[in-house]
Amino acid sequence: MLRYFTAGESHGEALVAFLSGLPAGLAVDQAFVDRELWRRQQGYGRGGRMKIESDHARFLSGVRHGKTIGSPIAVLIENRDWQNWKDSLPVEPGDPQKHKRVASPRPGHADLAGALKYDFTEARYVLERASARESAARVAIGALATLLLRELGTEVLSHVVAIGSVSIADRQIAWEQIVPLANKDEVLLSCADPDAEQRMKEEVDKALRTGDSVGGVFEVVAHNVPPGLGSYAQWDERLDALLAAAVMSLQAVKAVEIGSGIQAAHSPGSAVHDEIAYQRASGFAGFTRTRNNAGGIEGGVSNGQEIRVRGYLKPISTLRRPLQSVDFASRKPVKAAYERSDVCVVPAAGVAGEAMVALTLARCALEKFGGDSLKETKRNFQGYLDQLRNY
Ligand SMILES: Cc1cc2nc3c(=O)[nH]c(=O)nc-3n(C[C@H](O)[C@H](O)[C@H](O)COP(=O)(O)O)c2cc1C
Repeated sequence: MLRYFTAGESHGEALVAFLSGLPAGLAVDQAFVDRELWRRQQGYGRGGRMKIESDHARFLSGVRHGKTIGSPIAVLIENRDWQNWKDSLPVEPGDPQKHKRVASPRPGHADLAGALKYDFTEARYVLERASARESAARVAIGALATLLLRELGTEVLSHVVAIGSVSIADRQIAWEQIVPLANKDEVLLSCADPDAEQRMKEEVDKALRTGDSVGGVFEVVAHNVPPGLGSYAQWDERLDALLAAAVMSLQAVKAVEIGSGIQAAHSPGSAVHDEIAYQRASGFAGFTRTRNNAGGIEGGVSNGQEIRVRGYLKPISTLRRPLQSVDFASRKPVKAAYERSDVCVVPAAGVAGEAMVALTLARCALEKFGGDSLKETKRNFQGYLDQLRNY
């Protein structure tokens, strides 16, 4: 079973991720993992932090001579910013005078809920863990899941379909248009439509000018996914439910859509469901569809079409022109705390979304095909492909 969790604070020494359950013999492409980390740091509207950090995944265990060995993988990503925080956020008691309090909770952030929950007198420790810096750890292990999926012929990428009020969400962007976005060395907003991307940039500019922030929608697309991942047999085996939880778990994601699920709720069945045809030797088992409103999942099971999952991000809650709040100590009205912050993170969230989708699909694939070595996994997978071909 593929299991993972992460540790680390935003301004602590490092982030750590643990991944257990990958088969032995998977080649770990260090340059690819670091490139994924780089992609998570990009996008127009990021704050100063991303100029400080240049993320690198250091594998501490589970990888030897460039390949997984079946034992748990621990990966460490240093926080370069730690140098500036050593005195204010030490592991040992340190000097309380140097502590950097977050004195008034930011509406929309975890500050108030977290301080109440853990009985903190202010929100520094809350911010440190709630921060999406944590998503870098997920991207590092997500890259390993992506490498496993590639061995099975599946690719996972993302693109941006809306920033603020500018949206191309009513269009289905072809896989071939999404691929070049991931190869770019300069990332603006990861939108496949250059005109829309310029209008999206204007939305971010407006937020930058006015001390505000802006949200949006990313779409993760998994290409060439075999039918049969996930199951309707139990509620917690449904692929759509697993993907929704995985993407929703990303910081600032407030809604998840599979395929065109939102539009579907307002449309007649005839306009929604993807008619079925048959053309021998096409796809996995010869069955074809004229469209993909289902986003590649029916009954909680992948159906052989592309899987399309959208994450809807609220605007960032740290505002240069802060909203009203209350001082933790005096309980008097004050402006919410401000700390260097991103203004728009939708492309970065898309990269983290890819990681979560890849981890989820890899988990389902390993549950279906098993295998302690990659060779065994691929042999089992090949047997299933043959079964589909002969269906
Ligand atoms: C890639 C990424 C970067 C983020 N950067 C910031 C940031 O700089 N400032 C901020 O206030 N929130 C940022 N967020 C959002 C917060 O982490 C998030 O709103 C907060 O933890 C509260 O969680 P919730 O929005 O899921 O309720 C970011 C989110 C993502 C996905």
